[in-house]
Amino acid sequence: MKKELRKVVIAGNWKMNMTPSQAKEAVKATAELTAGKNGCDVVLCVPFVDIAVAAEAACGTNVKIGAQNVHFEEKGAFTGEVSTSMLKEAGAEYVIIGHSERRQYFGETDETVNKRTKAALAAGLKVILCLGEVLEERQAGITAEIVSMQTKLDLAGISAEDLKNIIIAYEPVWAIGTGLTATPDQAEEVCAIIRNVVAGLYDTAAAEGLTIQYGGSMNDANAAELLSKVNVDGGLIGGASLVPEKFAKIVDAAQA
Ligand code: 13P
Repeated sequence: MKKELRKVVIAGNWKMNMTPSQAKEAVKATAELTAGKNGCDVVLCVPFVDIAVAAEAACGTNVKIGAQNVHFEEKGAFTGEVSTSMLKEAGAEYVIIGHSERRQYFGETDETVNKRTKAALAAGLKVILCLGEVLEERQAGITAEIVSMQTKLDLAGISAEDLKNIIIAYEPVWAIGTGLTATPDQAEEVCAIIRNVVAGLYDTAAAEGLTIQYGGSMNDANAAELLSKVNVDGGLIGGASLVPEKFAKIVDAAQA
């Protein structure tokens, strides 16, 4: 498996943080601090109400804007939901789908993750598809089975051509927001398992071209070591993405 075949992507997931005015400042600061850092793509996934202002602030810079979820229907009676065309018109190029917080707190399942992913791809959005095991699953020794199953179910019916617009983010749930980071070897092991499953579903070329990020307490101190692993092609960063200086240091670590 060759790392140089893949694009490195450093993405921030702001979660439920930042008002529109705060978003404008944070995007500008991030863009200034990461200007000319072309060794990776830089994405900020922001709350729905921040997308338009964030996209405007990012215009002409190397920062791209994403959303944190999207509904699979195009329009209609789905109170509180947002469609792919709404995201696109507001200026989003990416969308996170299947984050563990959506799975844990909002009833997201592999079936709805798959439907949302298909809708987003059909609309021309790039998808950051999140999956990962919870602590009990890791302790029970079934991490490989869990991530393999999620990968298969979440990618069901998606063509090799569409796979090119998907990034998989491996996010062990026990490492999210806990300060407990997977070791580089743990991250590498599971990212490699995911890549093998993708090779089985598609082919070796598709698997070698797929960007697989690690997410879970990645920060400016641990990013370089995690990113040095051959199957870790970037990061999905929560807390540290809220501080442009910290996020920019992670982008720096991805320039190697
Ligand atoms: P933290 O970096 O805050 O642990 O969050 C990771 C995450 O969930 C990114 O989607």
